[in-house]
Amino acid sequence: MLMKNILVTGGCGFIGSNFIRFLLEESNYQGKVINLDALTYAANPESLADIAERYPQRYTFVRADICDKEALQEVFEEHPIDAICHFAAESHVDRSISGPGAFIQTNLIGTFNLLEMARHYQERIALFHHVSTDEVFGSLGAEGFFTESTPYKPNSPYSASKAGSDHLVRAYHKTYGLPVTISNCSNNYGPCQFPEKLIPLIILNAREGKSLPVYGDGSNVRDWLYVTDHCRAIWLIMTEGKHGETYNVGGDNEMANLQVVESICDIVDRLAGPLPEGPRRQLITFVKDRPGHDWRYAIDFSKIRSSLNWEPTETFDTGLEKTVRWYLDNTTWVERVRSGEYRAWIEKQYGE
Ligand code: NAD
Ligand code: DAU
Repeated sequence: MLMKNILVTGGCGFIGSNFIRFLLEESNYQGKVINLDALTYAANPESLADIAERYPQRYTFVRADICDKEALQEVFEEHPIDAICHFAAESHVDRSISGPGAFIQTNLIGTFNLLEMARHYQERIALFHHVSTDEVFGSLGAEGFFTESTPYKPNSPYSASKAGSDHLVRAYHKTYGLPVTISNCSNNYGPCQFPEKLIPLIILNAREGKSLPVYGDGSNVRDWLYVTDHCRAIWLIMTEGKHGETYNVGGDNEMANLQVVESICDIVDRLAGPLPEGPRRQLITFVKDRPGHDWRYAIDFSKIRSSLNWEPTETFDTGLEKTVRWYLDNTTWVERVRSGEYRAWIEKQYGE
């Protein structure tokens, strides 16, 4: 079955907006994209303003909540959706610790609603691709990697809700024969990421000469992947992946948080010029650790490498420099997010 009308959920968020841009500008996809997003605090339709203008025939935005079954029904009735790429989620671990409820609603109930919709319209659904995270596997010690067969052991309300959603997606394949694929990816970075996550937060605080909060002693390790490499992996899985399978996606780029923050300081010093007080590394402040903070993530992505011929193309050096430049250059996007003006625009355009 050919995909001609792909529903992308969460397309106004960080990875979703990069994925829609990739699909329309860089991939071989010729069909339409329906971007369904509830426009939570993490969404910014301004990330796709140029796309909406340049692709009026191929790009449609619908404001809807995946927790709202009736709204979903309307979208599926109005648009001949034949594939789904599901990004919509509450995605920030710290927020899941202070308020887990929204994570249960969106990540579990919302995914369930979407699966039910796909089941209802199954005869026209070529694929349900579920975008998930390496955090479902829990935490590693100094050795080893997560593989597709590593047992799930999530430690935060966020990762537990994503783990539950992965299980639901898999169950809909086994039980109802829904054509599904799942990807579990490591930490993404790049343009349009909401500045509550480590890399954009540190870039913007460094630019402004503010304190740079590092949790615990900064030794926690993450594997970083440039967002466009993730988007390319998702599209490959959607077009060439095997139904019912999961694919780990990673950057082969493990880094301790302190090292990431120091690298950002050095790049911002070089690109924006030094602060009168001296090098930005001086702004690093060790703060109280995140409760249940996973120590290390590392991904074995040999499956997608050997079966789909995928590899990351961006190195951390080139990707981080590109990312810092994007945040320094895109002052309008940054200022509107920092000041909250992007919310005022959304309210004016779509209501509360
Ligand atoms: P994000 O927080 O930047 O964006 C999430 C988007 O989903 C927002 O636009 C938001 O408005 C939308 N959304 C939230 N609740 C919704 C609801 N109830 N109905 C409709 N839309 C809703 O997230 P992200 O970082 O772009 O992550 C996207 C997906 O990728 C998530 O499923 C996340 O678990 C997964 N993932 C993220 C990373 C990462 O490093 N950011 C890594 C691996 C996997
Ligand atoms: O591994 C994939 C996951 O990566 C995704 O599933 C999540 O959606 C995404 O948010 C990300 O989760 P992390 O918790 O790893 O990302 P975050 O940017 O919040 O934090 C990265 C690391 O930096 C983590 O070890 C916590 C630390 N940290 C974070 C912040 C915000 C700090 O030291 N200081 C900070 O201010």
